[in-house]
Amino acid sequence: MSISDNNPVDIEHMLLEAEEAVAEQHGAPVAKGPVVAAPRPLDQHDTVAILDFGSQYTQLIARRIRELGVYSEIFPHDTPQQEVGRIHPRAFVLSGGPASAYDPDAPSLPPYVLESGLPVLGICYGMQLLTLAFGGRVEPAHTREYGMARVHPTASSPLFKGLEGELPVWMSHGDRVSQLPDGFEALASSVNAPAAAMGMGKVLGLQFHPEVAHTPQGGQILTNFLFNVAELQATWTAHSFVTTAVEQIRGMVGEGRVLCGLSGGVDSSVAATLVHQAIGDRLTCLFVDNGLLRQSEASEVIDTFGRNMKMNLVAVDASDRFLSTLEGIADPEEKRKRIGNTFIRVFEEEAAKLGEFEFLAQGTVYPDVIESATPERPSAARIKTHHNVGGLPSDLRFKLVEPLRYLFKDEVRKVGLDLGLPEEIVWRHPFPGPGLAVRVLGPVSRERLDTLREADAIMRAELHAAGLQREIWQALAVLLPVQSVGVMGDYRTYSDVVAVRAVTSVDGMTADWAHVPYDVLARISSRIVNEVRRVNRVVYDITSKPPATIEWE
Ligand code: XMP
Repeated sequence: MSISDNNPVDIEHMLLEAEEAVAEQHGAPVAKGPVVAAPRPLDQHDTVAILDFGSQYTQLIARRIRELGVYSEIFPHDTPQQEVGRIHPRAFVLSGGPASAYDPDAPSLPPYVLESGLPVLGICYGMQLLTLAFGGRVEPAHTREYGMARVHPTASSPLFKGLEGELPVWMSHGDRVSQLPDGFEALASSVNAPAAAMGMGKVLGLQFHPEVAHTPQGGQILTNFLFNVAELQATWTAHSFVTTAVEQIRGMVGEGRVLCGLSGGVDSSVAATLVHQAIGDRLTCLFVDNGLLRQSEASEVIDTFGRNMKMNLVAVDASDRFLSTLEGIADPEEKRKRIGNTFIRVFEEEAAKLGEFEFLAQGTVYPDVIESATPERPSAARIKTHHNVGGLPSDLRFKLVEPLRYLFKDEVRKVGLDLGLPEEIVWRHPFPGPGLAVRVLGPVSRERLDTLREADAIMRAELHAAGLQREIWQALAVLLPVQSVGVMGDYRTYSDVVAVRAVTSVDGMTADWAHVPYDVLARISSRIVNEVRRVNRVVYDITSKPPATIEWE
């Protein structure tokens, strides 16, 4: 099986639609409060500040830079200098964006960027801002360039070190630099953009996007910028993060007690483990079994965190309560609402029994922060509210400890491995807060949950045996609310249908159906119909997101 990258041609509008759909679907409230412990590396590492001018690729820039071992953080373009200064940047990257730089209302370059004297890489719109700032000219291109293009480095520049000849690159622009500012040199050209790259000393611009997979040498260009031009050190590793995070959590929590809602998912598991490493027994984890989990999940959580890691783990079996509140409910949003409300009540009741806690630890990750508007990021209002946490109330009076607040999912996994968490947990697929309730389509009953659980376990075991677990972002079995005719032995059957869905994705916002080999699908199908009573048909979902979503409800 090969993982196909989402085609960036469609990504811009697809992302927006997908985000709206997610925002609509996941009304789950996230606990809000002052975030007191969210470790950032600050002055232990060389860091890069990325100013976001609205490109859909900004997150990718941050990921690429971090993959190269340099900590980078995204700031809205209008962030005050003081806020950006908190990470002590050693270089700036200016993202692309949808505006036209010469438009009077267009977002402008904050003066502190050039005043800092630090190396700057402007990408697309970012390059156009640099052009205007230094007195050059930007105008509409005769032909909008959108898609693959070829550029030729025309001057020897540290930015293109090791790259010769023609480079395929990804362009996405309607404007272009028509006159370079004084002192700047064209470093590369394309048919439609004579200045496809420009530079003056350590101030550089690229008309194309080095951060996307469609610019195959983009990684080398970013490497050149970070290490040849800006002369940064690659020190950002999972291990260095753990060391810093543990110290910072200790400093911020002091002698206080921390409560953590543990779901067994990757984010909350890694967050809890990190906090546990920092403060040991002053962390209490609360695990609510809602009866909607996958096979053996509850016992795995109890074994891993309680028995093996010796955390203070309180496990509450609230499945009866959840199942009774779901009785007869077919509407997915009503299911989500009831599950969310029941979770809040159970969590509050159980937390009250555990004494006083000053802090609440959550597994919020960086994409949640980038994509949610907060007072800290007022200009991020365009994006979505997120759903990462299993539905905690918004008025809990805790101070928040969010140790993963500045990490991407792949970094969270690396931190989990560094902390010694088992691979089964670190590589666990995302699982929705409302669990199997949104995968039993229509009304949920204990019997239907059991049927789905068995089918799901078979599917997961077969994907795992085929070594596909990591390539696949998420795999799920869905119990459909229809029955179909079959024949087993000499008998006619009229039984349930299970849909199997496996997708590849980078972040769940868009996804492709996974091209799971036929023989694996055949084994999944034959085992499910043979081993799960009441199921006589298995179908495979071959829809991407969008237009479908990952979950069926
Ligand atoms: P969709 O179905 O919107 O899912 O494509 C995107 C990702 O979100 C997960 N998901 C949820 N997570 N509460 C959650 O915590 C929910 O209500 C919920 N619904 C979907 C889904 O499993 C996928 O990873």
